[in-house]
Amino acid sequence: MASQAEIAAMGRAVELAARGLGTTSPNPVVGCVILDAEGRVAGEGFHAYAGGPHAEIVALAQAGERARSGTVVVTLEPCDHHGKTGPCSVALAGAGVARVVIGVTDPHTHAAGGVDTLRTAGVDVEVGVRAPEVEAGNIAWLTAVRRHRPYLTWKYAATLDGRSAAADGTSMWITSEAARMDVHAHRSTVDAVIVGVGTVLADNPQLTARNLRDGSLAIRQPLRVVVDSEGRTPPDARVRDGAAPTWVATAAELGGAGETQVDLRWLLARLYERDVRAALLEGGPRLAGAFLAAGLVDKVVGYLAPRLLGAGSAALVDAGVGTIADAIELEFVDVTRVGPDLRVIALPRKVES
Ligand SMILES: NC(=O)c1ccc[n+]([C@@H]2O[C@H](COP(=O)([O-])OP(=O)(O)OC[C@H]3O[C@@H](n4cnc5c(N)ncnc54)[C@H](OP(=O)(O)O)[C@@H]3O)[C@@H](O)[C@H]2O)c1
Repeated sequence: MASQAEIAAMGRAVELAARGLGTTSPNPVVGCVILDAEGRVAGEGFHAYAGGPHAEIVALAQAGERARSGTVVVTLEPCDHHGKTGPCSVALAGAGVARVVIGVTDPHTHAAGGVDTLRTAGVDVEVGVRAPEVEAGNIAWLTAVRRHRPYLTWKYAATLDGRSAAADGTSMWITSEAARMDVHAHRSTVDAVIVGVGTVLADNPQLTARNLRDGSLAIRQPLRVVVDSEGRTPPDARVRDGAAPTWVATAAELGGAGETQVDLRWLLARLYERDVRAALLEGGPRLAGAFLAAGLVDKVVGYLAPRLLGAGSAALVDAGVGTIADAIELEFVDVTRVGPDLRVIALPRKVES
């Protein structure tokens, strides 16, 4: 059973892992703490960027000889494969650690096996310490790898009466600058931003992650994806500027036999192949409805403005619900005030793989 020091160290490892959010994809975020034989912290590390050293290797370098006979506390099962770096399982066993405490196992078929390698080398291994927190901290990557599709968050902005545009079609801006800045911060942590062609034609958004005050672009830009069955995105649309990569996904590329629209499952599978692990669906209401009807949304983030319109487009259209018994059930997990608006986060109770 994990000691108090090991349980505390796992909490610290979760904090360390979070520092890699937004820069490690397509790799997971991982945090690691090494305790010496007396249970004192000897080294810490996290995986900072794809291709960079793994958390365990950073922590081992810091701990040096103090790792010998010590305990490694790590959020994810140490990798067992020869990728850009050598297997962490072998490095840990080679450093003479006595015990490895793991949050969750690695669902990736290429990288899993670290537990077995460590045990074969005579290292004591415990799995599942603070697993719910560890899982939550790496939810996008874990979900994506398990389902072979990106973890999809649907984000929308609406008035308190659920309108996403006024009767005359105007929609800029429903929510405050603070809420929009929050969205840009979110964009900079995902691998792709997805919109329907209806939104491109109506709003001509740029869909980059940027500072709204001075317009400067974030260092890392998500892939901009327009779901556009017939290729109606205009040549001079802002999503086609050179500020970030763009993919206009058409039915010619992603339509099933006899289908006139883009196949959304196929789209997600192709995005996964392109190393997209976390994606932000930014509407509009019709495309969001189609993704929700297919059960492909993992998380909903709604920004609600303290305004009423009484007419205009609904935030969600055609989600496949005809009667109250078929409503898409969600669970609220967070409500936060962002400037004058509310940010409400909810998780669908049923998600398809
Ligand atoms: N408040 C907000 O958060 C927010 C966010 C975004 C947009 N908006 C507003 O929403 C309005 C535009 O919404 P919209 O509903 O017309 O457009 P949309 O949801 O952005 O795009 C809908 C289009 O996506 C295409 N599509 C391709 N494959 C599809 C599939 N499998 N299922 C469904 N659609 C597919 C369809 O056109 P094709 O068949 O031609 O491909 C469809 O007409 C604008 O007024 C905009 O301001 C509001």
